[in-house]
Amino acid sequence: MDVRNIVILTGAGISADSGLATFRGADGLWEGHHVEDVATPEAYRRDPALVHQFYDARRARLSEVEPNAAHHALARLDAEWPGELLIVTQNVDDLHERAGAKRLLHMHGELTSGWCLACDQRFSWSGPMGEGASCPSCQTTGQVRPDIVWFGEMPYDMERIDAALRNADLFVSIGTSGAVYPAAGFVQSARYCGAHCIEMNLEPSQGSLFFNETRLGRARDLVPEWVEEVLA
Ligand code: APR
Repeated sequence: MDVRNIVILTGAGISADSGLATFRGADGLWEGHHVEDVATPEAYRRDPALVHQFYDARRARLSEVEPNAAHHALARLDAEWPGELLIVTQNVDDLHERAGAKRLLHMHGELTSGWCLACDQRFSWSGPMGEGASCPSCQTTGQVRPDIVWFGEMPYDMERIDAALRNADLFVSIGTSGAVYPAAGFVQSARYCGAHCIEMNLEPSQGSLFFNETRLGRARDLVPEWVEEVLA
């Protein structure tokens, strides 16, 4: 296979090996919380304190975890791959960038970013945000929300992602259940445009039949092996 352009989609499963909870399944974040209580614009209007509490706890957790072998392998591929490469993550943690990945898009936003609804600026954020946070740009208080794409909101960077999928020779999906669109449909776009599609997951994802290859196992084992293969 002659591969030049690679698109990689990652989900919560890649960070599970660092100790962060996934969303679905036993002990998943959506087992302990109702999506509609903490991850929609309506929830934020109804009970901003609860929404902030949920994301403040997840942001605090970042300082307790480290990138794992899968994040490091992707960062190495990013550094060494001479062709086009794009890592699109659905994750809002910062483990890809802490491993050194550069060609990276956070389509669902970032825990380490805040967004001021008063002046529409986005800025990096560490520590708790809470309801009374003051905007570092316009100083308005109480209008800073987590820069997270909630259900019912448009994911970031879709034009760039669509363009990369159209040009991809190889599409690799890692640690995602394939339950949430538009990311769940990336395999179909890439396949339609001629890419070879590989999924790496603990179990077959919901879109498993669209992939040319399914590799089952833990991301921390499968991803370094695959990176060795493509760089060989
Ligand atoms: N290695 C590989 N895969 C794993 C591992 C692991 N160590 N641990 C879990 N998985 C797999 C699970 O089997 C599951 O299929 O990762 C997948 C995680 O699925 P979800 O919890 O649904 O997470 P994700 O697909 O990233 O969710 C997508 O849903 O609620 C939203 O916005 C949130 O970005 C998130 C989106």
